[in-house]
Amino acid sequence: MVEKTNMDFLDLSVLLILLLWQWTFTTGSERYWEYIGSVGQSKWPEHFPACGGTAQSPIDVVPVQTQYDPSLSPLILLGYSQHGKEPFVLHNNGHTVVLQIPDRMGLGGLPCQFTAIQLHLHWGNGSPGSGASEHTINGQRTAAELHVVHYNSELYPNMSVAKTQPDGLAVLGVLIETGEEANPAFWNILNYLVHIRHAGQSVSIPAFDIQSLLPSNLGRYYLYNGSLTTPPCFQSVLWTLFTETIKISRTQLTKMETVLYTTKEEDTSHVLMQDNYRATQPLNGRMVLSSFPPESVRVYTVGEITAIVIGALCGVIGLAVIICFIVKTIRSTSSWDLLPSIRPATIIRMPGKEPKQDVVLTPTSEAGKKEDLVPNLA
Ligand SMILES: *[C@@H]1O[C@H](CO)[C@@H](O)[C@H](O)[C@H]1NC(C)=O
Ligand SMILES: *[C@@H]1O[C@H](CO)[C@@H](O)[C@H](O)[C@H]1NC(C)=O
Repeated sequence: MVEKTNMDFLDLSVLLILLLWQWTFTTGSERYWEYIGSVGQSKWPEHFPACGGTAQSPIDVVPVQTQYDPSLSPLILLGYSQHGKEPFVLHNNGHTVVLQIPDRMGLGGLPCQFTAIQLHLHWGNGSPGSGASEHTINGQRTAAELHVVHYNSELYPNMSVAKTQPDGLAVLGVLIETGEEANPAFWNILNYLVHIRHAGQSVSIPAFDIQSLLPSNLGRYYLYNGSLTTPPCFQSVLWTLFTETIKISRTQLTKMETVLYTTKEEDTSHVLMQDNYRATQPLNGRMVLSSFPPESVRVYTVGEITAIVIGALCGVIGLAVIICFIVKTIRSTSSWDLLPSIRPATIIRMPGKEPKQDVVLTPTSEAGKKEDLVPNLA
């Protein structure tokens, strides 16, 4: 199996593609950048002015601050499952792994027709619990993120032209979490990473159903205007971030995080491709739309309102009954407590005369005796 894949790798067609990539990336005005270091994220705007713009991606999505737009319908994937038999090309571009998608795949349900061009991933560094998604929801990062890039083929001839236009691109963002089980769809990519460990390498892989990488619910998403999350950061992207996450196993995540290098094969030292995600960018007043109504603002029916009012009334009456019972209980308890201390007093004061007589009688006799004695002594 491995030998056969190596044969595929050395296939002439792949070599041709390699040369084509080489040509694209060396003749293009590609300038060097990285995530951390001397040409790291904070330096991007100096070398790529658009990265300092006011509508950058990724962003932190705060669901309570999004605006529900009932006109947003579920996204329609066109031709995603009709992958055919022609192999796909997987490439290490020094920043991520890129899967070239055949142009017969596209997107419907957005303002324009979009054609798929590539998908790629962003991930962390293998330390447990370290989130590395680009987009966050309420500040929470997931383990990784998948992006499927499309260009506006209704208005522009190709990706190169479209990526510089405000309405040129549409990217689907999928948040990836780790779960108990492996995600079979992801092996279609992860199994081949070992063949493209070094920057600039490509491999052809069997075609597969790209839709199997995506969430099943394509109707719940956030939509906003943003940018490419890597230099040159053109502000040309209509972003769709699905609320449903997809799950891969920890083994699969580890493979993503520890197999690829950002360096070329001929380089003297090799650097692992890790933490290839950009920090969230300020919204600067941009609106984030949601395709679904927020849970807290529910519309109640007349029946529900009646039930709530009756329920509240019953609650108030019930509480009053309980309070009355408690007050009564306290009163009766306190008279029982006081009785023993009151009793002697009542016995002394109320029947009064009897004890008085007792008390008086004895001393009177004594007093009488004294009185008798005193005059005697006097
Ligand atoms: C994209 O289209 C433009 C305009 O038609 C053309 O000049 C350019 O060569 C095309 N680029 C690629 C990479 O095909
Ligand atoms: C994106 O920008 C365009 C042009 O300004 C605007 O028509 C559209 O409503 C915006 N979309 C979103 C989701 O904010």
